[in-house]
Amino acid sequence: MKKIVVLISGNGSNLQAILDACESGSVSGTEGISGAVTAVFSDKAAAYGLERARSSDIPAIFVDPGEFASRADFDAALMEKIDSYQPDLLVLAGYMRILSDEFVRHYLGKMINIHPSLLPKYPGLHTHHKAIEAGDEEHGTSVHFVTEELDGGPVILQAKVPVFTDDTPEQLQERVQTQEHKIYPLTIQWFLQDRLKMADGSAVLDGKVLGSHGYADE
Ligand code: GRF
Repeated sequence: MKKIVVLISGNGSNLQAILDACESGSVSGTEGISGAVTAVFSDKAAAYGLERARSSDIPAIFVDPGEFASRADFDAALMEKIDSYQPDLLVLAGYMRILSDEFVRHYLGKMINIHPSLLPKYPGLHTHHKAIEAGDEEHGTSVHFVTEELDGGPVILQAKVPVFTDDTPEQLQERVQTQEHKIYPLTIQWFLQDRLKMADGSAVLDGKVLGSHGYADE
């Protein structure tokens, strides 16, 4: 079995999409090896994603940042707990804490994130609001490997959506998330099938180094 550990802080709709994809067999390893989420961690006790994990009989673990003196201490404890599940892939799905450099280095090349913008545009928060304010005609989402630069690791795959003139940030977010729920499981599938890796700071798919916007279908 290929083991996926997911980190969340909130609703967990991307987690749900991954759980559903594992359940249906569309996220799996090579030669019929199954893919499975083996644990979900949250830094927020009330994260609804923890409920989603419990509903699927998956360990749902809240780690309280308030119990640790520093970010480094929290991350060290979290790493130890994560590693007890021996994940093949660590997936950040709406995990809102800044990661320590030690944490990033420990999982380099096997940790991915989904960010709601067409990176490198709009790293950080409030991306939907920023796209509307800027008058952008298109917006979207990016899956990328996690490096020490916030939202700056090599992009694997992006999905674009139109921005309509009367859009609210909430409407735009909903449109973006519909795409996220498709591209995140697909990217995970590539990784579990050993088609995707990070090498020399780039994302590589099927032996081809991907450009700054990731894989693009011609
Ligand atoms: C997603 O839109 C993702 O891009 C961002 O956080 C959001 C998490 O949503 N990193 P959910 O918790 O998966 O519903």
